[in-house]
Amino acid sequence: MPSTPPEDNLRPDPTWEIPAHIAIIMDGNGRWARERRLPRLAGHRAGTENLRRVIRACVEFGVHYLTVYAFSTENWARPKEEVDGLMEIMEEFIDKELDELDAEGVQIRHVGKLEGVRPQLQIKIREAIERTRHNQRLVLNVAFNYGGRDEIVQAVRRIVEDGIPAEAITEETIASRLYTAGLPDPDLVIRTSGEVRISNFLLWQSAYAEWYFTPVFWPDFGRQHLLEAIADYNRRERRFGRVLDPDE
Ligand code: IPE
Ligand code: IPE
Ligand code: MG
Repeated sequence: MPSTPPEDNLRPDPTWEIPAHIAIIMDGNGRWARERRLPRLAGHRAGTENLRRVIRACVEFGVHYLTVYAFSTENWARPKEEVDGLMEIMEEFIDKELDELDAEGVQIRHVGKLEGVRPQLQIKIREAIERTRHNQRLVLNVAFNYGGRDEIVQAVRRIVEDGIPAEAITEETIASRLYTAGLPDPDLVIRTSGEVRISNFLLWQSAYAEWYFTPVFWPDFGRQHLLEAIADYNRRERRFGRVLDPDE
């Protein structure tokens, strides 16, 4: 009889605040593979398997928004074989997971540009968005062909096209033209694999996010690690520039 892995029983402490929006830079697939003398694409496959685990944990823990960095505008500069492999893995992920994600109440959204993505993958991404648009349990934003600077450039172009006068431009004017328009900013941004940099991810939106860095490679980042990140988040004091207790 198959037994439940002990990890599946781990739950957040009931006193914790669960971040409404968690964003993850899923890094370290290549190094995970190298440690095992496997090709880099095997690391990307393992990373994609892991994404399914983490989505499930987020659904169970009551996270409302999960944004994952899957492919950056700079990742096109990798060897063609790796880029082609990543596109294939993305297609397979949609083919394999869409039914279950839909059944679990996951709403799939895309942040980034579809332009430049091969047509068959564009069609699958559009289908996944269309099919899950009414789901409410978890919004899964897939940052794919995403770059924070590109996003700001696109927003500025739209502001100019919309003929908005300079003095009328507010933060809302910009935020409402980003790929993430209508979504709350991330509360917690996690980066795996030990790198401590932003790599063009959610430049505007992460202005007041809490950051969490872990040396664990993405394919190994499980439920236990996610709980550690949420526990750490609960030890932070978010001040947003204010003084919380002026008499202290
Ligand atoms: C993250 O893993 C996945 C993508 C960027 C697509 P990497 O492929 O960057 O893994 P490392 O950083 O080389 O270990
Ligand atoms: C960021 O990781 C992009 C994704 C995880 C999709 P990279 O591995 O591309 O970032 P750098 O090159 O180390 O900054
Ligand atoms: Mg990397």
